[in-house]
Order: sequence, then C-alpha cells, then structure tokens
Amino acid sequence: MKILSVESTCDETAVAVTENGRRVLSDQIFSQVNLHALYGGVVPELASRSHVEVISLLAERAVAEAGVRKEELDAVAVSYAPGLIGAVLVGVNFAKSAALALNVPLIPVHHLRGHIAANYLAFPELEPPFLCLVVSGGNTLLADVRDYTDLHVLGATRDDAAGECFDKTARVLGLGYPGGRPVDELSQGGDPTKYRLPVGNVADHPYDMSFSGLKTAVVNLVHTAEQRGEELDKPSLCASFAATVSASLVPRTIRAAKELGYNTVVAAGGVAANSRIRADLTQATKEAGLRLFFPPLHLCGDNAAMIGAQGYYEYLAGRRADSSLNAYARMEL
Ligand code: KG4
Repeated sequence: MKILSVESTCDETAVAVTENGRRVLSDQIFSQVNLHALYGGVVPELASRSHVEVISLLAERAVAEAGVRKEELDAVAVSYAPGLIGAVLVGVNFAKSAALALNVPLIPVHHLRGHIAANYLAFPELEPPFLCLVVSGGNTLLADVRDYTDLHVLGATRDDAAGECFDKTARVLGLGYPGGRPVDELSQGGDPTKYRLPVGNVADHPYDMSFSGLKTAVVNLVHTAEQRGEELDKPSLCASFAATVSASLVPRTIRAAKELGYNTVVAAGGVAANSRIRADLTQATKEAGLRLFFPPLHLCGDNAAMIGAQGYYEYLAGRRADSSLNAYARMEL
C-alpha cells in the first residue's frame, strides 16, 4: 500500500511517499530554519505562509521522486495534531484536497505517533510492545507503546519540553536557532561536571518531568556571569546542561521499561539526536540488558515519511477522516 503523507506542524514542510509503513519511496523536506533564525525562534504566521508557498511543489516532487503515478497512491495521511495551529491547518487542508482529487481515503495521524513510527522505517524488526522516550521541540514524554495504535502516556514534562530548553540555552549563549545541535557540538569539548544544574522531579509522579527550573538556572547563571564580568566556560556549560537533561530522561526511561516488563526501549524526536542522551541511553540499556532503537539522525527531526509509516498502521486499524477533518494545537497521544 502506497501512502502520500503530509507534515506541517511546525517549521518543516514535508511530503513523502511510503510503502506498507516500512519503506520510504520519497521524502521531501523544506526547512524554514533560515526564515525563523532571524527572530531567534519560530514565528507562527511566517511558518504558515511558508507552508502555503511550498507544499504543492513538495508534493509534486515527492510523487516524482517515488517514481509512482498519482493513480497508484492508495491513501493520504496527514499530521493533524499537535502543533502550531495555523501551520497544521495548511497541511490538513492540502491533504484533504489531495485525498479528494485522488479519490482515496484520508488518514489522520498524531504527530508524536509519527515520531515514534520513524523507527519502523529504520528497523524492519521493530514491533510493539516497547517503551518509547519521545523528546522533541515541543514535547517530552514516556509512552507505553502496547501496539501500533494503542499507546499510553506514562509521564510527561509538566512545563517546558527538553527541546525548548536546549533552544533557550542556545539563545542565551548566543548560539543561534534552533539550538539543540550547536549546544551539542559545543559541549563536545566541555567538562560535564563543571556546572551543577538542577534536575526537576514531580513529587509522587516518578515518570513526570520538569525542565523549567533547569532553563531558569542556565539563564540566571549566564546573566550573573555577564553582570560580574566573569568569563563563562561555554563548552562546559553546554556539556553540564546536556548531562542534566540526560539525567532527567535516561533513568526514568530504564525504570519505566523494567516496570512494564519490556525488553525494548525506543527513542524518538529531534532531541533524540543529542549525543550525550544517545551515549547515556546506550550504556544504561546495555547495563539493564534491554534492546535499544534510535532513529537515524535524518529521521529524528520532523519529516513526512514518519507520518506515512504511522498512517499505514492507523489505516489497518480502521482510522479514517472525512472532509470535515480539523487541525488541533493539542491532542492526547
Ligand atoms: O522533533 P523536532 O524536529 O520538532 C518537533 O516535533 O517539535 O525537534 C526539534 C528539536 C529542537 O528543539 C532542536 O533544538 C532539537 O530538536 N535538537 C537537538 C539536537 N538536534 C535537534 N537537541 C539536542 N541535541 C541535538 N543534537
């Protein structure tokens, strides 16, 4: 089954063609990073306008790159929540029109389910159940993936997402936007034990997390150093910061997998590209005797192939949308 899939929830416009949820035939992505970098963060209205400009062209290219005729497409899948509402609406509206024009079913896909499904594209042997750590720009959560379309949130951040925290740290250090990668790169030469930063916990909710205290601690540290005219060791601050985020994510992930009796841990989302988190998870799962799957770097960030992968399983589970499908800024997993 060949699915045309659409992603526009934030600052990437993407259209892909995938086969049977496991094979990528084409994956077109247009990143708006240069557009938003000027402002130090995503400007929602500019994001929506940019999606409108490029989405049709990307779809044409995705179909051409896949080497299929339009009549060979069996369904259209779209990321319809959560995200920046104006941005999501562009993809939803485009997908509705495409499904109507092609006379094929329309499948609504939760964006974060898509991030998890990125792993199905990379690892043919991976099947639920497993424990998934989802760490993206706007969301941080631990998901109990019982089956392809039966997912439950065990715990989530109560405030900022880990990705937001990386972006804020980069901003206050003048490293540009989006900040995760530059913070990761700079941290390579640093001492991760040099700065003591707080790990947020939520009383009586062991799987819930908090990153706003960490964010504030980094901002205060930088501002205080500036006021006192002290030189900051930026590589060590980045390394200490990444180690602190990892210390919040990794032990919880291992504990949750053990508690559920799963032998497989999966990571997903843009922050799963982080080298410290990857190294710590690799070591912790090895020590605990768990299998670990990480999406390759090109499938960590937003893309449409992952929406096609999850769309296939949603389709098998009978999920369909009609022409009244709406977009949603928030939605349960
Ligand atoms: O999954 P994603 O593309 O967007 C959402 O669906 O939200 O994730 C984007 C986030 C940004 O916050 C970005 O700074 C972060 O992923 N990121 C990283 C790294 N690469 C991207 N964070 C830490 N280390 C990285 N290497």
